[in-house]
Amino acid sequence: MKKILCLNYSQSGQLHDIIENFIAPIEHAEIDRVKITIKDRFQFPWKVNNFYDAMPETVLEEPIELESFSFKEENYDLIILGYQPWFLSPSMPTSSLLQNDRFLKRVKNTPVITIIGARNMWLNAHDSVTNRIRSAGGQMVGNIALVDRAPNHASAVSITHWMLTGKKTRKWGIFPLPGVSDEDIKDVSKFGITLNEFLKSNNFDNLQPELIKKGAVRINSNILFIEGKAKKIFLIWANLIKKKEAEGKNRSFWIKFFRIYLNVALFGVAPILLFFDILLFRPFKMKVNKKKKEHYAYLGIK
Ligand SMILES: Cc1cc2nc3c(=O)[nH]c(=O)nc-3n(C[C@H](O)[C@H](O)[C@H](O)COP(=O)(O)O)c2cc1C
Repeated sequence: MKKILCLNYSQSGQLHDIIENFIAPIEHAEIDRVKITIKDRFQFPWKVNNFYDAMPETVLEEPIELESFSFKEENYDLIILGYQPWFLSPSMPTSSLLQNDRFLKRVKNTPVITIIGARNMWLNAHDSVTNRIRSAGGQMVGNIALVDRAPNHASAVSITHWMLTGKKTRKWGIFPLPGVSDEDIKDVSKFGITLNEFLKSNNFDNLQPELIKKGAVRINSNILFIEGKAKKIFLIWANLIKKKEAEGKNRSFWIKFFRIYLNVALFGVAPILLFFDILLFRPFKMKVNKKKKEHYAYLGIK
């Protein structure tokens, strides 16, 4: 009997649903299912100021206190880690878990599959997650990234509506439904079926190409472009806000400033930059972009 550790955090329950459907087809395995929770922080639905206030510590990956959790085993044959990106970084509960010694002990010498439930920007977060897994001695063997398929700006509006009201409904009845679609959540069991096949042989060498064939990872060129620039800018903001706070300046003033910046960048500057990129540079970047997409599709996987 294989032993699998499967763990994730979720605020709305979306990632729990994704994970449950993913592991449903797995046979002949004991699954130690751990739902990570945190101590009295990040109320859901979010208050608008709290939402942006989570940025600096999230981007700097400062750990927070998790509610206590336990593992049934010392060693596992496979770890399934579900996570969501926050501000182009692993969510704070995820980066805290990835700095937890008891968890990292289980990661050592163990194959790891990640499953992401994001809006649409997970590349930078995944860089960090795979680095942490690899430096703990884990072997990345697969990744599935589920995203909101609505266009970037529409999904930014609809996810804000969801995060601030707690309702996964259409804003004003006109915007697309936020988050990963019900259909994609249901359909995630197809990846579980693939994993089940690989578990039989205990050889995960070819797992990621098979998952990719079934649509586990889709990388959009516009998102590649935005993520290539935005994380560096978030890091500058995160460090600036922390510095101002350390100097005794009003943190909430700087958070508000960041909030204005982010909205101007997302809805004003990014579309202009994208327009020129598509018009002037994209045709010459086809090869480079193809390589980058391949890089992210197999990030951390040999
Ligand atoms: C504070 C915050 C920041 C987020 N930032 C991102 C992001 O950078 N990229 C992205 O694709 N999704 C982002 N999301 C969406 C989440 O990744 C996730 O899809 C959503 O919160 C639902 O996850 P849940 O299962 O925890 O409810 C963010 C959500 C929150 C709450």
